[in-house]
Amino acid sequence: MADPQAPVITVDGPGGAGKGTITQMLARQLGWHLLDSGALYRLTALAALRRGVSLEDVDRLVEVAAALDVAFEPTAPGEPVRVFLEGEDVTSEVRTEACGDNASQVAVIQPVRDALLQRQRDFQQAPGLVADGRDMGTVVFPEADTKIFLTASAEVRAERRYRQLKDAGVDVNIETLLEEIRARDERDMNRSAAPLRPAEDAQVIDSTGLSIEEVLDRVMAAAGQT
Ligand code: DC
Repeated sequence: MADPQAPVITVDGPGGAGKGTITQMLARQLGWHLLDSGALYRLTALAALRRGVSLEDVDRLVEVAAALDVAFEPTAPGEPVRVFLEGEDVTSEVRTEACGDNASQVAVIQPVRDALLQRQRDFQQAPGLVADGRDMGTVVFPEADTKIFLTASAEVRAERRYRQLKDAGVDVNIETLLEEIRARDERDMNRSAAPLRPAEDAQVIDSTGLSIEEVLDRVMAAAGQT
């Protein structure tokens, strides 16, 4: 059950704009809960494929989304939240480009989005929630106290992703990454179901050329938390 009194800060924006890092730091600094909504779409795609469900089979995808058995576990500062599917640690698997691509496909399906809606709203708990996604301020938490739209140029996002993957020991080509980022932006922004766009009352922060600390300062200031 959600607590409608608990304050919410939504952070939406395209992939690679730094939302994951910023929302984790913000939640930790404020001592608030964190919702990584992208992980729910990634987990839906992963759970479907593991069960042999096609990513085009809407009815079965909705069943998978509605029955998702997931858990999120906080870790040490600077480390990604651990993600469990049916008790199995799938943290690395959900973060792969392939899983992100599959998530982007299931995320265009409105009934799948509907099936995940209440689960996301239930994260609104005292003392507060930081919600990371694409439609947090527009659809899931339209009454949020603070709405941020975090963006950055596609080139900068590709470069950041490249570095992240390299650090994780994954061999990738930056040109390919840039193409993938552009393709995913295109799909996320042009879908009819909850397209990626800033809420009318969102504050837009462009993180191109800003350090993580500078972005965090601006988000904290926007949220009146400085
Ligand atoms: O933020 P992410 O890369 O983990 O998201 C994976 C995919 O899920 C991405 O293509 C967009 C989609 N998504 C969405 O449609 N709505 C959300 N609230 C979060 C993610």
